This record gives sequence, structure tokens and C-alpha cells, in this order.
Amino acid sequence: MTTEQTVLITGATSGIGYELAKIFANEGYHLVLVARNDNKLNQIKEELQKRRNAKVYIIQEDLSQIGAGDRLFREVKRLKLEVDILINNAGAGYTGLFHEKDFEQDIHMMQLNMITLTELTKLFANEMVKNKRGKILNVASTGSYHGGPYTAVYYATKAYVLSFSEALSIELKPYGIVVSALCPGATKTDFARRAGKQDSSIAMEAKKVAEIAYKELMKDKKVIIPGLRNKLLVKIPRMWASHMVGKYQKALLINK
Ligand SMILES: NC(=O)c1ccc[n+]([C@@H]2O[C@H](COP(=O)([O-])OP(=O)(O)OC[C@H]3O[C@@H](n4cnc5c(N)ncnc54)[C@H](OP(=O)(O)O)[C@@H]3O)[C@@H](O)[C@H]2O)c1
Repeated sequence: MTTEQTVLITGATSGIGYELAKIFANEGYHLVLVARNDNKLNQIKEELQKRRNAKVYIIQEDLSQIGAGDRLFREVKRLKLEVDILINNAGAGYTGLFHEKDFEQDIHMMQLNMITLTELTKLFANEMVKNKRGKILNVASTGSYHGGPYTAVYYATKAYVLSFSEALSIELKPYGIVVSALCPGATKTDFARRAGKQDSSIAMEAKKVAEIAYKELMKDKKVIIPGLRNKLLVKIPRMWASHMVGKYQKALLINK
């Protein structure tokens, strides 16, 4: 099937973003893949172009930098592309005591997880409104539903992503645009290692998370929570959940 539609995926070189890129390629979408690692982007471009006849564009951008969203949007325009589906997936976290961590690290995380995500949503939503169609999938977390001791800023950024996406899903509905928030729980990706913690033994496969995300996005589901365990987790009262998460995150710390 060829849809002649284009999906832009940030953080497409690893984990959930990479699995989503494979699914969209298999469904015949053209792809715009964004990340920092140029070698990986090129490898994935080659892999996905070989598999299908999809056009694959790659854009190297550090989305934790001020103005990165605008630069990315202008590059998409320079390539004369219209984005039908925007997936704000790139995200980063760290684990450790908030007061000991470098503020620069907090700033980069907030910039990547919230500011650039908001900037890209604004720029592409504007175009989608003119076209009277489009979909935006913002990757939040089950951590959007409660506090996360030992990973406090990260969880707070994800609470923002969920709140922002829920609000926009209502605001943009009359314009024919679907906004969804994907809220995965622990997932087997590079994320834990990069965040400085061990992998969780109960983590879901990234492929499964991406399959559920794709299916539910196509059904215009507003909030997508993959897996029964994660669905139950978000129902637990907030403070109790924060205590449980604190114990769990502390146990995963590499340098306790
Ligand atoms: N894994 C989990 O347990 C889990 C749970 C809940 C939510 N999530 C969310 O799921 C999303 C995807 O994470 P993942 O688990 O798939 O992690 P991952 O395997 O570490 O992948 C992260 C992707 O984002 C890109 N990226 C990171 N920093 C970037 C930056 N500054 N600029 C541009 N691209 C950047 C990475 O590529 P480069 O390094 O090449 O830039 C990579 O492609 C994130 O938003 C994360 O918060 C993950």
C-alpha cells in the first residue's frame, strides 16, 4: 500500500521511534527521520528504503537546543515536504538526586521534552489547520500521571506533555486534527542506560509499544497506554504511586 502521506518522527534511530519508523515504512508512508546521530540515521534510511519503496528523508538535529524546532521546520519546508503525521517521540531523562544534578542537564531535558515538542507542534499544527487534516502523536509516559522521585524533572516534563496533548486534542478537533498522547511504562530501549539506570525486568518490548501506538493512533485514540500493567498503574492514587515509583527508581539507580 502506498499512502503518499508523510510522517515525521523525532528520535527515530532507537527504541520506540525506530520501531514506529519501521511500521510506518511497512504501511507505505514516506518518512522524515530526525535524531542527532548522523551515522545511525543513514543506516536506517538505507534499511527502510531497501525494505519498501518509501521515500526516506533524514535530518540531523539536536532538539535539546534553543530554536531546534524552527530549524527543523525550515529544513522540512526547504525539502518541499508536507507532514501529515507528526510524532514527537525524542525524549531523555536522568536518574539521581535532583539537588545533586547539574542544572544544565535539567535545562536540556526540559528543552527537548517540552519546549521543542511544543515548538514543533505549533509549527506543524498551523499547517495542518490550513490543510484541515493531520495527526500529532506526543510521547508522554505513565510517569505523566504522578511524581517520580529520583527522576523528578523528567516525570514533570512528561506531566506537561500529557496535559498539553489532552488540551490540544480538544482545541484542534474542529479543524480535523487528531492529537494523541502515548503513555508507555518501562520499555526495553536505550533510554534506561542513557538515563543512568538499569533496565527494568518488567519492561515491555519497544516493538509491542509501537504496534499498539500505531493501531490506536489510526483509531484517533486521545490517550494511548500500552499494556494492562501500565493501564492499572495510572489508576493508582497519585501520592501512593509516587511513593511506589520512588522505591522502584531508587532500586534501579546504578550509583546508589
Ligand atoms: N523506554 C522507556 O522506558 C520509556 C517509558 C516512558 C516513556 N518513554 C519515552 O519514549 C520516548 C522514546 O524513548 P525510547 O525509550 O525509545 O529511548 P531511546 O531508545 O533512548 O531513543 C531516544 C531517541 O531520541 C533521540 N534523541 C535523544 N536526544 C535527542 C536530542 N537531543 N535531539 C534529537 N534526538 C534525540 C535518540 O537519537 P540520538 O541519540 O541519535 O539523538 C533516539 O533516536 C521518549 O520520549 C521517552 O521519554 C520511554
